Amino acid sequence: MSTKAEALRDFAEYVNPMKVRTLRHAGLDIIEGRREGARIWDLDGREYIDCITSAGSFNVGRRNPVIIEALKEALDELDQGVFLICSRAKAELARRLAEITPGDLKMTMFGVSGGEVVDFAIKLARGYTMRPGIVSAERCYHGHTGFALSAIGREVYRAPFEPLMPGFSRVPFGDAEALEGAVGPDTAAVILEPVQGEGGIRIPPRGYLQRVREICGRHGALLILDEIQTGFGRTGKMFACEHEGVVPDIMTVGKSLGGSVYPITATIFRGELGDFLIANPFIHLSTFGGSDLGCVVGLRVIDYILEHDLPARASRMGERFARGFETLLERYPDILVEVRQLGLMMGLLFSEDSLGPRMSYQLAQNGVMAIFSGNEPSVMRLMPPLTITEEEVDLVLEALDKSMQAIVKGGN
Ligand SMILES: Cc1ncc(COP(=O)(O)O)c(C=O)c1O
Repeated sequence: MSTKAEALRDFAEYVNPMKVRTLRHAGLDIIEGRREGARIWDLDGREYIDCITSAGSFNVGRRNPVIIEALKEALDELDQGVFLICSRAKAELARRLAEITPGDLKMTMFGVSGGEVVDFAIKLARGYTMRPGIVSAERCYHGHTGFALSAIGREVYRAPFEPLMPGFSRVPFGDAEALEGAVGPDTAAVILEPVQGEGGIRIPPRGYLQRVREICGRHGALLILDEIQTGFGRTGKMFACEHEGVVPDIMTVGKSLGGSVYPITATIFRGELGDFLIANPFIHLSTFGGSDLGCVVGLRVIDYILEHDLPARASRMGERFARGFETLLERYPDILVEVRQLGLMMGLLFSEDSLGPRMSYQLAQNGVMAIFSGNEPSVMRLMPPLTITEEEVDLVLEALDKSMQAIVKGGN
């Protein structure tokens, strides 16, 4: 295998030179070697606490031995399976997802990526309602595939590919009045993240999701909640919509369902929407979606999260972070403006955009891998595994303190 320098050189030459340059600038030109729990080791031996976690993909920790064991056992018997025919693992995971998701969410369509299951959610909404309109939120992020990209709240991602799908509109996130004005008889669905991740860890005002639910119901529009980042315990509940007791018509999940080892995503929807599939059982297909190996991993991930009550752990560790953030707010009032946090979905708003990349750089020097928000660079995102220990929380807080101190003193 190549050395770190060779890997970076080949990546620049054969994958994307600008990515390497940008990451180097942010101190993140790391090549992941060993990975374990909340930690990773660069090929040059340096150790980091992972607060990026592919935006909340590693809730059960990196290479969790219990999940690895389940995958190894599955490999003794299974492979990906034939996607066209029924499978025991698929059926079991679909039943389990129906059990753990709120309300009457019941049926599942599996996928491989988040964008893919968002696309299916939108297809299902249009196909079921026979309406064209999709309302999403400014700064939202739902992936880079066709329908998801058409919904996405950042011009720079969309512009080169115009014209995208017609029928999409966006409203400010958290503003129920604006949504009321945008939803009408042509609206198939409203799609939202319960907490915006890429948008800068934006937590909507209390009661917002309930208002959205009510507005959708009144207009016969479906509510799609994208829990790809917020799901599986990240915010202190199994799913973030549970903070407000809101049940969507369609929910998308992904990232952490794959336990850091096998990609698997899902669109989960109310039973009656399944009527659309009775007439069209093969209208949406995915060769690798819901592969047998991925389903075995997903089942073990769900059990692990429940057995270890990771949502409660996210709240507890989140409180420990919150106490540290209060001290940092007092200590660095000139640069640290606001803390945005729900469980272990955490964002620190700094006074200007350039401080995001500078904080990434400083944190990397202090042993923490963290990245600013794509859609709001002044916000540093911190999304460690939910298995993070108290000692590791304190190390991250210490690194934040040292990094802000360095910035205040005029460091990079
Ligand atoms: C809320 C949300 N939806 C969708 C996606 C897209 O997922 P994927 O990158 O697996 O396509 C992401 C990825 O970060 C996300 O955070």
